[in-house]
Amino acid sequence: MTSSMPGPAGSGPRTVVLISGSGTNLQAIIDEVGQNRLPVELTAVVSDCADAFGLERASKAGIDTVVVNFGDYGNRQDFDRALADVLEDLEPEIVVLAGFMRILSSTIVTRYQGQMLNIHPSLLPKYKGLHTYRKVLAAGDRFHGSTVHYVIPKLDAGPSIIQYRVAVRDDDTEESLATRVQQGEYVIYPRAIEWLASKRVELRGEQVFFDGEPLREPKLINEGGVGPR
Ligand code: GRF
Repeated sequence: MTSSMPGPAGSGPRTVVLISGSGTNLQAIIDEVGQNRLPVELTAVVSDCADAFGLERASKAGIDTVVVNFGDYGNRQDFDRALADVLEDLEPEIVVLAGFMRILSSTIVTRYQGQMLNIHPSLLPKYKGLHTYRKVLAAGDRFHGSTVHYVIPKLDAGPSIIQYRVAVRDDDTEESLATRVQQGEYVIYPRAIEWLASKRVELRGEQVFFDGEPLREPKLINEGGVGPR
């Protein structure tokens, strides 16, 4: 099979990916599953935007898609309820937020706590929220990166699993920095999902455990490095 042909949705824990946009992280996950390097079943891709390009990536790979179009709902509560119903029907064991741009209701987050991951483009706990690249450059930081973390009701505050770190260059722009950080996202996200699928990583209360031991600091991959497996 070539990578341009629809790949299998994989086998393993039922995994639902939530997106809002381009879906390059989704693509990295699809590719890993297609290469049998990520043991999950990609059950469905759910988008809150009908025109998210990631939906095309999913369809091309033969993965079911569901649109819960935010604009079709009169208010946040109705949208949250519709999304919660969709997720209930899909019965995910893992929920992956990959560029999903809505803050989920605490009901949904609590329902999937320990099973729901997010990727955030900063070295958390630094720079929660939006415009992280701009903030890093304005602050003159030496390093930037991205973090895969468990989702808890507080935004970008869930316990971290793995980070990818790049050195900021003197001539970096938001775009050049984002390009390098995103290359790392395509490595750390599939890896964290694999750890969750194989139960190497677990959330007990607010503590992450890795291979049965408390994880005191997130795992780290430096730019160009291979990092822990
Ligand atoms: C990623 O860079 C991620 O850090 C952030 O949103 C972006 C999504 O990009 N949460 P994509 O849709 O996966 O291309």
